[in-house]
Amino acid sequence: MRVLGIETSCDETGVALYDSEQGLLADALYSQVEMHAEYGGVVPELASRDHVRKLIPLIREVMADAGLALSDIDAIAYTAGPGLIGALMVGASTGRALALSLGIPAIAVHHMEGHLLAPMLEETPPAFPFVALLVSGGHTQLVKVEGIGRYSLLGESLDDAAGEAFDKAAKMLGLDYPGGPLIAKLAQKGDRSRFTFPRPMTDRPGLDFSFSGLKTFTLNTVSDQRDAQGNIDPQTLADIAAAFEEAVVDTLAIKCRRAIQQTSYRQLVIAGGVSANARLREKLAAVMQKERAKLFYARPRFCTDNGAMIAFAGCQRLLAGQQSDLTILARPRWPMDTLPAI
Ligand code: KG4
Ligand code: ZN
Repeated sequence: MRVLGIETSCDETGVALYDSEQGLLADALYSQVEMHAEYGGVVPELASRDHVRKLIPLIREVMADAGLALSDIDAIAYTAGPGLIGALMVGASTGRALALSLGIPAIAVHHMEGHLLAPMLEETPPAFPFVALLVSGGHTQLVKVEGIGRYSLLGESLDDAAGEAFDKAAKMLGLDYPGGPLIAKLAQKGDRSRFTFPRPMTDRPGLDFSFSGLKTFTLNTVSDQRDAQGNIDPQTLADIAAAFEEAVVDTLAIKCRRAIQQTSYRQLVIAGGVSANARLREKLAAVMQKERAKLFYARPRFCTDNGAMIAFAGCQRLLAGQQSDLTILARPRWPMDTLPAI
């Protein structure tokens, strides 16, 4: 089965063609980050308009790359949520309409399920059951995964998501949006031990997270380090970036270890934008080795938003006989544990 995947939930337009027999045939991505960087974050209306401009050219590009015609597609998978309503509507209406005109099924895909399954596009995929850490700009969740649509929430962030914390801390350090990759880059030049940031909620049992305190701690540290003229030494900024990254990574690693111990599962999957973080991968690999568990993640390009994960997730559900009706489905909020099992 050949599935065209469409992702437009936030600030990336992603399109991909996935074949259940041959794997990924083509994928294309257009990132709007430069446009939003000017405003320090995603401007929803600008995001929607840019998806309108880019989506059809990207679909053409993917079809040309694969050397196939639209009539060679068996189904269309589009991201129906969660995300920005205007942005979602672009992919949902285009995907649904294209499927109708081609006389093929469409399936509405949950964006976080897409992230969660993205590591299965890699050469050595995880096998069910496993524990998943979903860490994106909008979500931080630990999930027990027994199969597709068989998800139990083990813990989640009570306030900011991990990616959101990276983005906010980056702003305080004078870095652009999105801040995660920029903090990671700056942190490489930093001394990780000069400042010690808190590891929130690790001193009590449980698998929930809280990152908003780290934000305040970062702000206070930056203010303390300014000289009388309000300037701050570049090395100090790098040291703060390193201490911040270390605190987030450590906190995530402590909770992942607990989740592995609690479930007795021997596989941890990390997914979503923050799973591209090299320090997180390094630390979790060491922790999982101690637990005799294996760590799985997608290539960096498929950690952040992309069309391949949507094509893949949609394909799995379509193969199980599921499909969506003619509704153009766009749900800004959509709890993942309400999805049907296959
Ligand atoms: O999954 P994603 O592309 O979009 C959402 O669904 O939210 O995640 C984007 C988030 C942003 O907050 C970004 O700063 C963060 O992922 N991110 C990173 C890294 N790359 C992306 N955070 C830390 N380190 C990275 N290397
Ligand atoms: Zn995402």
